[in-house]
Amino acid sequence: MNNLIDIMQLSTEEIAELIDRAEDIIANPKKYSEACHGKKLATLFFEPSTRTRLSFEAAMYELGGNVLGFSEAKSSSAAKGESVSDTVRTVGCYADIIAMRHPKEGAPLVASRSAGVPVINAGDGGHNHPTQTLTDLLTIRREKGRLDNMTVGICGDLKFGRTVHSLMCAMSRYPGVKFVLISPEELVVPRYLITDVLEPAGVEYEEVRSLEDVMPQLDILYMTRVQRERFFNEADYLRLKDTYILTPEKLETAKKDLTILHPLPRVNEISVAVDDDPRACYFKQVLNGKYIRMALILKLLEVEV
Ligand code: NCD
Repeated sequence: MNNLIDIMQLSTEEIAELIDRAEDIIANPKKYSEACHGKKLATLFFEPSTRTRLSFEAAMYELGGNVLGFSEAKSSSAAKGESVSDTVRTVGCYADIIAMRHPKEGAPLVASRSAGVPVINAGDGGHNHPTQTLTDLLTIRREKGRLDNMTVGICGDLKFGRTVHSLMCAMSRYPGVKFVLISPEELVVPRYLITDVLEPAGVEYEEVRSLEDVMPQLDILYMTRVQRERFFNEADYLRLKDTYILTPEKLETAKKDLTILHPLPRVNEISVAVDDDPRACYFKQVLNGKYIRMALILKLLEVEV
């Protein structure tokens, strides 16, 4: 079955093909407008979402397909105690492909075993978010013209931020990528990313506390929100939430061609005054998310255009 549960299921060649396809969709949208005629995407969102769910839905509509689904667990039979397996086995009878977000790590993998149709992980707990990473990679390639040979600063909640985990896995495969991991001590990246991903791949990285100190060396600055919903207590969240706030002043020492990304939603970590800076690419990133998801749906449904 064609699923996308983990970004490492895609080779760098396949990622390049998806990015090329997204570029072709951007250049020739009409060519794709009936590509998924008669097909249905189900969006099963057991956790809040704005961009991921709506970009999946917009993607399917722009491919000429249809969409069904739910946007909160309490409006599905999960509220009655139904298992993920039974829910997706049911939805697999109605839809050709499923995009699923769930608070439990591994739920989309479990779903993929009983759905009978392709399942896409649209975010599982504090674990992974492969389609956000495809969005990030498309954006980086559009902005920089390449995915290799760059210093990537990732700042904020590196512990619970699932987009960070998938992005680090994906980018660890491109030569000359160096990571600068900027977080409070309490929110460093899970150790498996160091021992099982960065070190075996021989990727250069440093873990630091100060954003200002490393700013001049960055080609990419990927800001993230502190993931309140994954904290065990509110006091820790309140103490850590405003550790990093990107402002125009802090960008004074940054490279002129820095690319600033954020998966969004933003809470406080990027001042709105940064939005007018030409280096701020997070709203372009939002739009790119629709195009790369169109490319992904075509691939998983094996639609020839
Ligand atoms: C992210 C997520 O859900 O993990 N949002 C998104 O999909 N663009 C990031 C976040 O919620 O902080």
